[in-house]
Order: sequence, then C-alpha cells, then structure tokens
Amino acid sequence: MDSESGPLKSGMNIRTKIRMEEPMEGGEVCPVEQIPDPCALVIFGASGDLTHRKLIPSFYYLFRNNLLPEDFMILGTARTVMSHDQFRESLKSVVSQGRSGLFDDDTWAVFSKKIFYHPMDYRDLASFHILGPVLSGLEQAHKTRKNRIFYLAVPPVLYADISRNLGESGLSGQDGVYTRIIIEKPFGRDLQSARELNKHVHRYFKEDQIFRIDHYLGKETVQNILIFRFMNAIFEPIWNRRYIDHVQITAAETLGVENRAGYYETAGVLRDMFQNHMLQLLALTAMESPSRFDAGQVQEEKIKVLRSLRPFPMDRLEGSLVLGQYGPGEINGEKVKGYREEPGVDPASNTTTFAAATFFVDNWRWQGVPFYIRSGKRMPRKVSEIAIQFKRIPHLMLQAVEDKSIAPNVLILSIQPEEKIMLSFQTKMPGFKSCLRQVVMDFSYKIDGGALALDSYERVLLDGMLGDQMLFVQEEGVELTWALLTPVIEAIEQGRVKARFPNYASGTPGPAEADTLLDHEEDRWRKL
Ligand code: BG6
Repeated sequence: MDSESGPLKSGMNIRTKIRMEEPMEGGEVCPVEQIPDPCALVIFGASGDLTHRKLIPSFYYLFRNNLLPEDFMILGTARTVMSHDQFRESLKSVVSQGRSGLFDDDTWAVFSKKIFYHPMDYRDLASFHILGPVLSGLEQAHKTRKNRIFYLAVPPVLYADISRNLGESGLSGQDGVYTRIIIEKPFGRDLQSARELNKHVHRYFKEDQIFRIDHYLGKETVQNILIFRFMNAIFEPIWNRRYIDHVQITAAETLGVENRAGYYETAGVLRDMFQNHMLQLLALTAMESPSRFDAGQVQEEKIKVLRSLRPFPMDRLEGSLVLGQYGPGEINGEKVKGYREEPGVDPASNTTTFAAATFFVDNWRWQGVPFYIRSGKRMPRKVSEIAIQFKRIPHLMLQAVEDKSIAPNVLILSIQPEEKIMLSFQTKMPGFKSCLRQVVMDFSYKIDGGALALDSYERVLLDGMLGDQMLFVQEEGVELTWALLTPVIEAIEQGRVKARFPNYASGTPGPAEADTLLDHEEDRWRKL
C-alpha cells in the first residue's frame, strides 16, 4: 500500500491507493466486444479543425486497434478544391503528431486508402445530387452495404441547409441497414432555435437516425459514473438527501478562448458548457437506476432529472448565479491577455467566461440538496470533477475538538485530467493522543496499465457506428436544458444581471462572489 499527501484538506491527509494489480474475487466482467457493420462515413466540414484534430485521429486510432469494420470508408467534403491525396496529406501531418508513439507509416498507408475527398457547396441542392453517385461508387467499391453516416462538422448555421439538402436529394432514406446523421454542439442557441432545428431535421431524419454529440459523455470517467453508482451495493442507499449535503460539479480550464472568438462571442459559458456538458453530468449524478443498461432506459432516467430541475428564481437571480469574465493574469508562470484583448473579441465585450450556479432537483431523492455547478476559462488548473459532500457527523464524541474542524466525507469522481475516484474519511492518528486525521482512498484509472482506453471522440464515434444512442443527447433532453437556461441567458443579454467585467484575473478561481452561493458558512468550493 502506498501513501502520499492528498488534496482534500491540507496538512492532515494520508492517501491510500487502491491497487488494481491485486485481483479481487470477481475479476473482470465484460460484455462482448462489438465491431460495427460495414459503413461509409461522409464528413461535412472536412477541411476544418474538428476533422483534423479529432475525427480523423479518432478513426485512425480505432482502425489501428481493429475496432473498425473491414469494409469501411470516409468521404470528406468541403468547399475547397483538392485531390484525395492532398486531403490525405493534410490529415497525415496532424494525425502523425497526435497521441505519442501511436502513429506508424505502414498503418497510415493502409488506413488512408480508405479516405477520399469531394468538393461541394452545402447550400446548393445540385451539389448533393452530384454527391449521391460519387458516394454510391465508393460504397460499391468498399462493400459498405449502403450503411451511411453523415457527420456535420460545420458551423451550426449550416445544419439546417445540409439536413434539408440531404433529404431533398434522397440521401436521408434508409437504403442499407441504416442512414444516420451526427450533429455537433451547439444544437440551437436558445429554446426556440433548438425546437426549430429539431423540427427541421425531423422532416428528413427520424429521431433514431439523429445522433447529437456531447463529447463529455464519451469520457471514460463519465461513463463510469453509472457503473460506480449502480453496480455497487454500498453507494446507492446513501445517494440521497438524507446523507448528502450538497454536490459540486466543476469544469475548469486553463485555456482561454483561443482562436474561437467568432463562435464564443455569440455563446458564452452558459451556452458553451452548461446547456450540454454540465447539465449532462448533473443528470448522470442525480438519475435513478435504469432497470437495464440500455440507451432507451438510461436516456429516460436522465430526462426525468432534467424535467425535475427547478427553474431559476428570475427576480432573485444573484442568489443563484455568479458570472465572470477573465482579465489579464498569469497561468503557469506565463502572462496571458484578458478576454477583451483576445483576437476577434469586442474590446467592450460582456461575454461570460465563468459561471457558478445553484441548481435544485425537485424530487423526493434530492429535495433541498443544492447542486453547485461552475465552469470557467483561464482558471489556475484544468480539472473536471463531481464532488459529493456528505453531511457532517450529527454528534461529536471527542469533546475537546471543535466540531467545525471535522471535515465531512467527500466522494470525488474526478473526470480529468486525472481519472480517479477518491473518498475521504476520518481516522485516528497513530499514537497516544486521540487526534484525528483525514485520509483519502484513491482509485486511479491510470494504474490499470495496458488496457485499451478510448478517448471521448473515439468512444462516441464508435457508438455512433454501432447505433448505440446511450452517449448521445435526445430531442427532449436538448429542449429541457434550453428551456431552463434560456430565460437566464436572455436576462444576461438584456443587461438585467449586474456584473462588471472583467471581474477575475486569469489564473485565479473566478470571482470571489461565487463563494456566496454556498449555503453554509463552513462550506467551500473545492480548491482549484
Ligand atoms: C467544448 C467547449 O465543448 O468543450 C470548449 O466548446 C471547451 O469551450 C471544451 O474548451 C472542453 O472540453 P474538454 O474535453 O477539453 O474538457
């Protein structure tokens, strides 16, 4: 057993690691691994960043690990005119610099023969009439049995045009076993636009053909939330208002807006992180157990949580929401600009880069338990985690110790960058006196060396090919989250929420007012 100092409470911490090498009774239990059916993937937006940085590297890695079907091909499309080979070369230069040690020329040579390129104009129906035969020719050559996935890696303004043109050119029909459309976030920018987009896409695709991506759901540790909660007997009985004081969900990044001002200026943190990733994490933390671990039942349970979220008190919003925008500062010893000085950002911009908010789930299990959620850019460190803080002990038997100094038990589901589960509890310090110390039981995924780990995009792409909707977001889920946040976003945009920006320096954990959200005087946000 190893020990080292841990992060939960400074000074008095011992960390106990759980070692995977010591097999426990039961060992590994795995469902049968599935390889998707043959299929063709058409990427709209193939010359873009997402295709180069995420999609093609993910397919390359899946291919390298024999997780793709033998009969498979990718057709990239965009406006730029280039040859198949020019497209392959532009991809190779990025993929070869990806995950270290995983690129080799021989594998790439075989994989890249499955990649093709076709220039087209997404707003022009005639372009789709030309795309059809090009695709059919490749499908025949690669024996993909007319199974098709269309991936929309384009700016959201094009979602409606592309889905309509696919429909009107006859490409959305199910000639093979399936035709699917994968749509990136943001899905709409408020309730009305999300509803309109859902309605529009449904004219040409049925709900089971539509895969709305939330890449957070593909993260290994996010998927583990359900396994941890529902495949262990000891946590579920205490996972409720009787034992849990509050929940803190954090997604903090050190990065700023980077080169995405064009999008981010129209989004802000509530659209960018809360409407999707943060509320999905909340739903997974709060949902009831599905009777079967299948997409339909998991989706249904998550939707029930989203339906139970209490609307924000619009007349007293300050008590439930704190907003921020980063100013200049220092991250890891390096000076960085403020948001308003970033390229492409309006120097008087009021776009929010930080938010902390209190949510309540109005049902029996969670009545009165606050879910504090925060997300921000240019924070001191990158961390995404869910911290379940249990209630304080009801009675102090050690008279000499002041009760407030006894830290409550905290269970941390750490999503990234460290993939861990930690549980803190009190023990007696060895020795003559009855001194307490907090120790941490610490399970790290990294200890499990040698296992095949898929990153979030690899996971969701594979599931999209397998037709498993579990890690995708349903129509109702999208609309419920927008319904909750749209009044708040409107109030902010109409200047009804008071905040003077910038109000936190880069490299700090956000505006100090965020502390005022926490209910009890002795509670703190988890340290960043
Ligand atoms: C994206 C947001 O969805 O998630 C980005 O648009 C954010 O602004 C990113 O940086 C965070 O994802 P990850 O996987 O890096 O935590």
